[in-house]
Amino acid sequence: VGQNLIRLPEVDSTNNFLKAIVSNSEPLAEGTVIMADKQFAGRGQQENTWYSEPGMNLTFSIYLSPLFLPITSQFLLNMAVSVGVRDAINDFLGGGLKVKWPNDLYYNDQKLGGILIENILSGSKYKAGIVGIGINVNQLNFDPMLLNRPISMGKILQRDVNLLELLAKICTHIEAQYLRLRSGNFNSLQNSYLSGLYRFKEKASYRRLGEVFEGTIIDVTEQGLLVMLSNGIEKHYNFKEVEFLN
Ligand code: BTN
Repeated sequence: VGQNLIRLPEVDSTNNFLKAIVSNSEPLAEGTVIMADKQFAGRGQQENTWYSEPGMNLTFSIYLSPLFLPITSQFLLNMAVSVGVRDAINDFLGGGLKVKWPNDLYYNDQKLGGILIENILSGSKYKAGIVGIGINVNQLNFDPMLLNRPISMGKILQRDVNLLELLAKICTHIEAQYLRLRSGNFNSLQNSYLSGLYRFKEKASYRRLGEVFEGTIIDVTEQGLLVMLSNGIEKHYNFKEVEFLN
């Protein structure tokens, strides 16, 4: 991962750029990274926009082709990528970074970055995973209107972090997790994901369809469902179905 690096000064979204290449079936080495100094239409999960101060942060996408992965276990790719990114950033921070289900990166209760994986299927088979990653690295000022209290590595460390050094570290860690996934070691991967999951096994408040309830996260399935224990009852939630409260 990252051996082939394409750095663009400016693009709408690195995910869009990569998706266009893959859709046109242009030959591309697996592990190719498209990085942009500036995205003018960066996208986040749930149709959000992803804004990142040009030149200050990392915004990039990786082309992976996990043809070995059953479609019903798609979320294992998210787990491998999240664990890799989390481990790499924790090497810099000395710990404290967690993955918030499904794949946000949180430092304490503040958002440091996010992952947007877009799966491209051909019929009922996996064709490609477009793995988009956005990390707040050296940006120090954020829009006060943002609800997820953004934070950056630079703010935490009180120094600048070299973007290419961080990118290289992330690629190395993602590759290690991707190889673990490819070797079929699903259980150990799932355990690594859970061991650094935000609010894992902690009682907290959530909201679903306007109703607030208390629950404890006890698992995340290979399909990406959040498994929660609430009032002694086990419940499974889909993306967007449940909202974390503070
Ligand atoms: C989120 O937290 O909602 C996910 C954010 C993902 C942002 C990255 S930046 C690189 C790649 N290109 C995009 O347009 N989005 C992802």
